[in-house]
Amino acid sequence: MTASKSKVVDIHTHMYPPEYISILTSRQNIPLVRNFGDNSKDPRLILLEAEVPSLQLALQVPSAPIPGRPLTSHYASLGQKIHFMDTHKIDISVLSLANPWLDFLTPEEASGPLPATINNDFERMCQLHPGRLYFFATLPLTALSTQVILDSITSSKGLKHCRGVIMGTSGLGKGLDDPNLVPVFKALAEAELPVFLHPHNGLPNSVYGPQQKDYGHVLPLALGFPMETTIAVVRMYLAGVFDAVPGLRMILAHSGGTLPFLAGRIESCVLHDGALLKKFKEEKRRSVWDVLKEQVYLDAVVYSEVGLKAAIAASGEKGEERLMFGTDHPFFPPLETDEQGEWESVGLNAQAVRKALGEGSKEADMAMGGNAFRVLKLFEK
Ligand code: URA
Ligand code: ZN
Repeated sequence: MTASKSKVVDIHTHMYPPEYISILTSRQNIPLVRNFGDNSKDPRLILLEAEVPSLQLALQVPSAPIPGRPLTSHYASLGQKIHFMDTHKIDISVLSLANPWLDFLTPEEASGPLPATINNDFERMCQLHPGRLYFFATLPLTALSTQVILDSITSSKGLKHCRGVIMGTSGLGKGLDDPNLVPVFKALAEAELPVFLHPHNGLPNSVYGPQQKDYGHVLPLALGFPMETTIAVVRMYLAGVFDAVPGLRMILAHSGGTLPFLAGRIESCVLHDGALLKKFKEEKRRSVWDVLKEQVYLDAVVYSEVGLKAAIAASGEKGEERLMFGTDHPFFPPLETDEQGEWESVGLNAQAVRKALGEGSKEADMAMGGNAFRVLKLFEK
């Protein structure tokens, strides 16, 4: 990690509090936690649609490969999070519940006490380590009414260490371009709570083809996740959400999926669609490039300087001021070295920042923490 003057901040780092794990353990459908007896030391965490075929096989055939990922202490233990931060010289972490957040709750459950319990638990964890931990709250998006969601924004804003909300791409069930979601975005803008947008659904399993079981998690995680984010943000853009809510700030996971690489193509497709072009001109819509440099921040969880350079370039003349380092802990643990030591995944992202912005440079320093510190106001108020 860089010998930086400003603090190193990890804005992409997840946890599942113990009460969330117990809900997963009681469930029959994904997301769920299952024990596979002697076949696996740890219980398995099965989250993704792409993992369902291997779950079904493992439940029928005891010798089949075990599905999902080991649910190690890294997912729920605060002590483990602090140890991970210390090991990697991370000064501050902005914690978030991992996918799929509360999106699977019934409307009744989402309207009950559970969402506040989870958010309060994150606040409690932050209070145990003053100055080191902040968090993105989770919204009860499947609640019985929008008012429940708006109330949750108000109570989250009241939590001392809350610095935004984490959200998937489902919205109220119809995606983030749903007009019914605009009041939620307006409330978040009003409360100055940025949205950390994170994928969960990937692409339909059929896209991955008949041999997908031989390809592990590569297709859903390396490609499905980034495409999901890209499509969600472009739908928001096409629906005019960014113009309708100019105060909305979004931090996009995985450097915006493929948005930096595809922004030109998106822009060109708009320019070459007669009806859209007319509408955009009448409504004086800003370009994708403008939205990227005015309302969007990108995390640096892209594992190579090639993607990171695209992310910086797409974010405008001062693109290096819109980039924020992240680790995605506790996902992607090392497979060949001790999990209590340094993680290769963290090293790859830190190295990408150094290579893209220059070892020891002011810009690298900002991406490693200065930007997050400034934008998310990571100091005790
Ligand atoms: N896999 C997930 O399900 N979520 C992450 O954040 C990373 C990997
Ligand atoms: Zn993540």
